[in-house]
Amino acid sequence: MRARLLLIIGGGIAAYKSLDLIRRLRERDFGVRVVLTAAGAEFVTPLSASALAGEKVFRDLFSLTDEAEMGHIELSRSADLVVVAPATADLMAKSAAGLAGDLASTILLATDKPVLMAPAMNVRMWEHAATRQNAATLRQRGVLFVGPGEGEMACGEFGAGRMAEPGEILAAIEQALDGEQRPLAGIRALVTAGPTFEPLDPVRYLANRSSGKQGYAIADALVRAGADTALVSGPVSITPPPAARLRRVETAREMLAACESLLPVDVAIFTAAVADWRPAAVANNKIKKHAEATPAIALAENPDILATIAQSNKRPALVIGFAAETENVLAHAREKLEKKACDWVIANDVSPGTGIMGGDRNAVHIVRRDGIESWPELDKREVGQRLVARIAETLGKRAA
Ligand code: C5P
Repeated sequence: MRARLLLIIGGGIAAYKSLDLIRRLRERDFGVRVVLTAAGAEFVTPLSASALAGEKVFRDLFSLTDEAEMGHIELSRSADLVVVAPATADLMAKSAAGLAGDLASTILLATDKPVLMAPAMNVRMWEHAATRQNAATLRQRGVLFVGPGEGEMACGEFGAGRMAEPGEILAAIEQALDGEQRPLAGIRALVTAGPTFEPLDPVRYLANRSSGKQGYAIADALVRAGADTALVSGPVSITPPPAARLRRVETAREMLAACESLLPVDVAIFTAAVADWRPAAVANNKIKKHAEATPAIALAENPDILATIAQSNKRPALVIGFAAETENVLAHAREKLEKKACDWVIANDVSPGTGIMGGDRNAVHIVRRDGIESWPELDKREVGQRLVARIAETLGKRAA
């Protein structure tokens, strides 16, 4: 047997996917012991779960036979990893609050083993401040997350909250069990992402084109590698990696303040497309259209967040900037390396024909003082993973 898993199945429509997960885990020689919550048993039967797991399913905190054969403490510690799938808003809230009124929550409170949660719920429940807070609390305590993904939900709405697919949960389980895959454990990371919005009046703003995808992918890869990751994000419409500490900001000045408040960190990666200028004055009311005069906008320069942090007395050991250019990409990147005092500049060509702006792929060059490394066109997630591997190598060498 490769490892023993304790799978808690919460009450959600996604519970049926957990049956497929059990089957796949068994095929891969994992031992699976199942705990079914009362709500979970409304969606899948104990019989189907136990038939797939090949042993009895645990349901009741106060069942005498279970306590005689195996107490809940023993149950919570006999596994190598506790997996909660689906992790409902209710189970997450109970675990964050330390409640122990039933078998599942008692196990989560009593276990000394790593816990991996696969959240599944309606998009509004997932985005509710209470759930965000609970996810943040659990993550800070070391709970790992996989998903949720985005898509059509059983309730008819669209958005984040769909449980990760069994294949993804399986990959997350393998990763969680494999300490080698967490080379950045103990490292603190900061990522900026997305555009900034610089208000002109209450309804208008200046902004940059940025989807936030590359920055979010890097933050996700950092989290997966075990780094304690803060993501300072301008307004974007994509879903943040669940286990990153998210700070939402609008303006460049807010972004700088958020970054400064998060120092010290070991590595900082600045992917945000920060507006270079902001309207010098912000009108209190919507500026009206007058036939005779088109308003002129006076601009003030925004702080350079990357340059400020790279030159601060709390400078991270590794400072990485991005250079999105439409011409002379490498020359501009080399200039930026010096001007902004960063260690690496990730340069990419964002001229309109490339489809990189807002797209899912990216072709980048890592520009360092000792040379340039060019990668082929890759999915932005893979760029994130490769970058994180380079970061781990570099921080590892410096620590050695
Ligand atoms: O000068 P340019 O905007 O091309 O530099 C890009 C790099 O600098 C990116 O890493 C970007 O996140 C960062 N930057 C910043 N603050 C600014 C402008 C750019 O952090 N005001």
